Amino acid sequence: MASTMLIVVLLAIASLLVLASDPGSLQDFCVADKASPVLVNGFVYKNPMDVNAGDFFFSGLNKTGNTNNRLGSNVTTVDVNKIAGLNTLGISLAHIDFAFTGSTHHTHTPEQRRYLR
Ligand SMILES: *[C@@H]1O[C@H](CO)[C@@H](O)[C@H](O)[C@H]1NC(C)=O
Ligand SMILES: *[C@@H]1O[C@H](CO)[C@@H](O)[C@H](O)[C@H]1NC(C)=O
Repeated sequence: MASTMLIVVLLAIASLLVLASDPGSLQDFCVADKASPVLVNGFVYKNPMDVNAGDFFFSGLNKTGNTNNRLGSNVTTVDVNKIAGLNTLGISLAHIDFAFTGSTHHTHTPEQRRYLR
């Protein structure tokens, strides 16, 4: 009987630990304020009242890059410098155009090679 009680108590304690997860993010977005004079590691946040749809939009990923170069390819990258709303999300995008027989240099670790399509 005592061992049953001990198991029940241990399971109760273990279930409390399972519920102890990370809290949700404090903010859904932290749009970069690139005009801020404050220098931090990354970009400081723009006042949420000043955020607009343009902070989450980039026009140009649908344009074909000029592949008339030595590699026969053209990479259009989009990061926080082009979409301020990507700040702190750890997301960047790339549009790669290849000419017939074109290629790119692979200068990244395998973990960095995740493209959103
Ligand atoms: C790319 O998308 C923009 C709208 O965001 C549009 O105005 C433009 O015509 C498109 N360009 C091409 C090449 O499809
Ligand atoms: C990629 O394409 C853009 C748009 O055509 C062009 O301005 C740029 O010079 C090209 N980059 C290379 C490396 O060819």
